[in-house]
Amino acid sequence: MGTPAPHGTDGFWETTGAAKTFTHPIDPALLAEFVPRTARVLDYGCGYGRLTAELVGLGYRAVRGVDRSAALIARGRHAHPGLALLRWSGFPLPFADRSFDAALLFAVLTCVPDDADQRAIVGELARLVRPGGVLYVSDVPLQDDPFNRARYERFAARFGTYGVFETPDGGVFRHHPPTWLRGLLRAAGFAVLRECRTVVPTLDGRTAERLQLMARQEPAVPGSAPG
Ligand SMILES: C[S@@+](CC[C@H](N)C(=O)[O-])C[C@H]1O[C@@H](n2cnc3c(N)ncnc32)[C@H](O)[C@@H]1O
Repeated sequence: MGTPAPHGTDGFWETTGAAKTFTHPIDPALLAEFVPRTARVLDYGCGYGRLTAELVGLGYRAVRGVDRSAALIARGRHAHPGLALLRWSGFPLPFADRSFDAALLFAVLTCVPDDADQRAIVGELARLVRPGGVLYVSDVPLQDDPFNRARYERFAARFGTYGVFETPDGGVFRHHPPTWLRGLLRAAGFAVLRECRTVVPTLDGRTAERLQLMARQEPAVPGSAPG
């Protein structure tokens, strides 16, 4: 199963988190603009295959979902028999370099508090998405309301990153400065082509602003060093 990465939040996603209803919607028009129906698409951190199944419903045929939670993959296989869902923890994922035209990363980085773990995820997707292919991210920027600001302050010392907080049911989540998300993608070789913000429901029944980023894997510059 590859090299296990150090993750402290796996227990939550095998128990309490595995029963949640995930909420970030795909924007089908944005997707269609950048990802043709013939594309090979990886839905990384697919959970119970909510969006993997939606992609198939939209006419995408070469779609694979991968998640590190056994409980969520089992739930997805039960809900969507026949969907290509894989449980895999650690990197590398069992796919060749450049074997996808597009990857989805929906509401995953918000579940990954650690900088190095986030870099590892985006770096692995950069390996898997071919040059010219796209990474479609939906995640949660820092919110500007009193409830969220208070919990950012409350947990900043404990987690060492402003925007990381624990929920009463034991989940650890992270809201990001948009500059962090852009920098994370850029450092892995993705150029952000489009951004848009909408309001979505959250896992705890509130609402939050989410940020979608559509980014293209930059073709290698001829003569430049690999990596
Ligand atoms: C909020 S859910 C979103 C699931 C799916 N993308 C969706 O939108 O329906 C977050 C997912 O990230 C996965 N996850 C949590 N921590 C992770 C980590 N450190 N690395 C990779 N995936 C992680 C969880 O197993 C879960 O399936």
